[in-house]
Amino acid sequence: MSPLPFALFKGKIVPIEEATVSIASHSLQYGSTSFTGMRGLMQHGNVHLFRLEEHHARMENAMKLMGWDFSLSFEEFKEGIEALIQKNAPEGDFYIRPFVFTATTALKMDYTPLTFEWAVYLVPFGALFDPNKGLKMKVSPWKKFSGEAIPTQAKAGGAYLNSCLAHTDALQNGFDDALMQDQAGNIVEASAANLLIRVGERLISPPRGEALDGITLQSVIEILQEEGKEVKREEISLELLEKADEILVLGTAAQVQFVESWDHHQLDKRPGELCLFLRKTMQTIQNTHPHWVTRIEQC
Ligand SMILES: Cc1ncc(COP(=O)(O)O)c(C=O)c1O
Repeated sequence: MSPLPFALFKGKIVPIEEATVSIASHSLQYGSTSFTGMRGLMQHGNVHLFRLEEHHARMENAMKLMGWDFSLSFEEFKEGIEALIQKNAPEGDFYIRPFVFTATTALKMDYTPLTFEWAVYLVPFGALFDPNKGLKMKVSPWKKFSGEAIPTQAKAGGAYLNSCLAHTDALQNGFDDALMQDQAGNIVEASAANLLIRVGERLISPPRGEALDGITLQSVIEILQEEGKEVKREEISLELLEKADEILVLGTAAQVQFVESWDHHQLDKRPGELCLFLRKTMQTIQNTHPHWVTRIEQC
């Protein structure tokens, strides 16, 4: 999908073709970027953004984890995104990609001399998956990188080579996405989404740490807590996964999607009770959890 025509780049809104860096930039050569991704949802002519503060906080935290000398106030983050949406005037739902990068040209492994900055662009984006068609997942031959190798919460661009390898392998083998294991063989997450499983009445998601502490998962856990249901953060072995009655894939792009099979294990071909409950709740979030929604006027 082509991006919308304008991007925020070097503090200005410019045609996206002008938002360029040198082929010798450190970000291009070594993947030294950190990003987040949000959905912009059109609601009666206004745009609704989900948990903007948390997306900003995640980017700020990533700078600390990576040791990159860059900071952005929430006001700058919000105003930049708001101005970009108004300039592009999208006609349907879209995806927002704010990211930090360096245009410094350096063939060195040292982050210290690099100058970091941020940019944003928008891409038209509807539902990623058909809500009535469950995902076919493949346990990936590619293991999830360890937090002892790269900070897992930093959403560092270079680290996503790991997700790309796993996702591509799944697609090339006729599946929709990958289930990634840690070095011990526990299931950690999908290629770019979190997991929540239901085993009878028990709700389990892998521990924070190796998996990204995703904003969708955090929200789902809060929603379930409000219903008196606790999500346990426990390791999910393949044996436990075999017992799951529902497996959900959660994320900004995936939203709440159910898994209908993994490897040769078959689950229900229709969305289950947990999936339906969470989808219904997420649809009314602007009424039930208005503090999670930022409204941008489209003019
Ligand atoms: C590796 C990974 N896990 C999980 C998620 C889900 O996170 P969120 O709900 O914040 O989109 C993402 C998406 O950003 C991701 O890239």
